[in-house]
Amino acid sequence: MIVVDTFDGVRAAAAGRVGLVPTMGYLHEGHLSLMSAAAAECDTVVASIFVNPLQFGEPDDLNRYPRDVERDAGLAAGAGVDVLFTPEIDEMYPQLPPMTSIRVDGLTEQLEGRHRPGHFDGVAVVVAKLFAGIQPDRAFFGRKDAQQLAVVQRMAADLSFPVDIVPVSTVREHDGLALSSRNRFLSTSEREAAAALSAGLFAAADAVEAGERDGATLESIVRRAAAERGRLTLEYASLADAATVQPVSTLSADSFLAVAVRVGETRLIDNVAFSVVGDNVIVDRGVRLDGPSVLEGG
Ligand code: PAF
Repeated sequence: MIVVDTFDGVRAAAAGRVGLVPTMGYLHEGHLSLMSAAAAECDTVVASIFVNPLQFGEPDDLNRYPRDVERDAGLAAGAGVDVLFTPEIDEMYPQLPPMTSIRVDGLTEQLEGRHRPGHFDGVAVVVAKLFAGIQPDRAFFGRKDAQQLAVVQRMAADLSFPVDIVPVSTVREHDGLALSSRNRFLSTSEREAAAALSAGLFAAADAVEAGERDGATLESIVRRAAAERGRLTLEYASLADAATVQPVSTLSADSFLAVAVRVGETRLIDNVAFSVVGDNVIVDRGVRLDGPSVLEGG
């Protein structure tokens, strides 16, 4: 694996079918599963590490975002990455702030967008720059950020980037908690309470597999699970269409049941995804690690 910090350097090193895994670093098994998926399908795997200031609302959130590039480099090499792209701010934004904005109207105002205004505009710009500068054939994104996935898919289609967006299932701790770089901020008791997030989603997924299709009923199952743990403050629980991210009252097309909570100072999101095939619904709950995450802080 080589480490480069310019777009020119990435393009010079990339050959054949190029797979891109964009990250903000502090890698966990969720990122590593994106990299392994890319390695299985592509000749050159490029992973980027860049903590994008444009997608953070509060400066505190940006400043406390965990960073450890040396540790990340070892993990990325082990997961099959060929080129690790670690640009400085000047390479990504020669003139800050950029005067060009990208807003994916209709997909970004609800759910996460309501709680993090401007977040997806920042994501759309940085991902578009990575697509333009690296020119990948495939780009791998986690289903955990289901709204981000929809935004990236639509942005790439609207701007005619010749890239296939490949969704990859969420990776979970042995008790169901979705891996996130933010999990390291949880105290022991917050970490225990956070397990209610996936427990509620799995109970709703069980109900879907037993035939339930009513959105309000599925949302109430998730709400109830969150309320049982005093430490969780629910921000939303919502069944949304996978492509339009609009709320849906009945599960009849590809969709996801999304939940966001605050646990102390930390904000966590999670979802389960549903694919409708004829009369059947296939549930993607993600994949569980056999034991606790081997990476510090999950
Ligand atoms: O999901 C993330 O880590 C970020 O939003 C991304 C896609 C790397 C853009 O900064």
